[in-house]
Amino acid sequence: MSGETTDPVLRGLNAAIAENYDRVPYDPPASPGLDPAQVFALAAHYGYGRDPSAIDVLDLGCGTGAQLERVAGLTTGNLLGTDLSRSAYAQAVARTARFAPRCRVLCADFMDLDADALGQFDLIYHIGVLYVTPPAVQRRLLELIAGCLKPGGVAVISYYAGTVPLLMAGLHKVLRASVPPYLPTGEQVRLAKAQIQSILATLGKIGGDQRLMMGMLQQVLGTEETIFFHEMLNQSFGTLSTSALETGLGARGVHFLNWMQPAPFEKDAGARERSMKADAYAFAGGGYYYGVFCKTE
Ligand SMILES: C[S@@+](CC[C@H](N)C(=O)[O-])C[C@H]1O[C@@H](n2cnc3c(N)ncnc32)[C@H](O)[C@@H]1O
Repeated sequence: MSGETTDPVLRGLNAAIAENYDRVPYDPPASPGLDPAQVFALAAHYGYGRDPSAIDVLDLGCGTGAQLERVAGLTTGNLLGTDLSRSAYAQAVARTARFAPRCRVLCADFMDLDADALGQFDLIYHIGVLYVTPPAVQRRLLELIAGCLKPGGVAVISYYAGTVPLLMAGLHKVLRASVPPYLPTGEQVRLAKAQIQSILATLGKIGGDQRLMMGMLQQVLGTEETIFFHEMLNQSFGTLSTSALETGLGARGVHFLNWMQPAPFEKDAGARERSMKADAYAFAGGGYYYGVFCKTE
């Protein structure tokens, strides 16, 4: 067993992150835009299409199971969701019970999951998770994604990338330092938003070209409270680059195809070039992306 797997500090951090989802439940609706038919339509563009009505699906970090439930109604295949938050797990089980036994949910830390035991899947969802986990967990997650994809299978991974999210990550650090962790969550959010207002007021007085910074601050200020709490106050929150994901997954035969809302990479020769072009796009501002990766080798 590797040191990372047994590290008590990492285990404590993972438990604290998951417990935050028990304290402040996060229950977003499913995203029809991520339906298997849409994902495989994009993959087909690169020669990796598949009948979406009979696929096996893994949702790594399924939360309350809304996506799992939706997709269970769209495929006749087997589905598996995993999450460490006990309350999210319980909700996901209740939500998908009518699809049992072909749909199952596990309550486990990603560090305890093993690709061989999980099985092989045509489609993996990994939505809203990678950027709220520590680096050691991210390494494990990339191993799991690559290990659990069937040849020609596809993973949808969401992440923040680019310049504005990088500024956001810096802001989050400032906010975490200024908000006492022992306060009730609502009070933490209130204090953090007041701190953003104060930074905005100061920037207004400084003068000069502060448009990018002020735009980012306004955007963060407008973030819905639950997301604000989980992203702002999560000490592992960070950005990722498409090239870094291509490098981490590419070593295991899984390569970047495009974003779910495709950027025009068509003429670029290979996955590496596409991922570098994606970083260039994100550099101009950036945002929240759904990257589509395929086990092409
Ligand atoms: C932002 S939520 C996303 C949930 C779901 N994918 C969605 O889009 O609604 C992140 C989820 O990752 C789970 N998580 C975080 N760290 C984990 C870990 N080490 N092992 C398993 N689950 C973890 C949390 O419990 C939480 O439910």
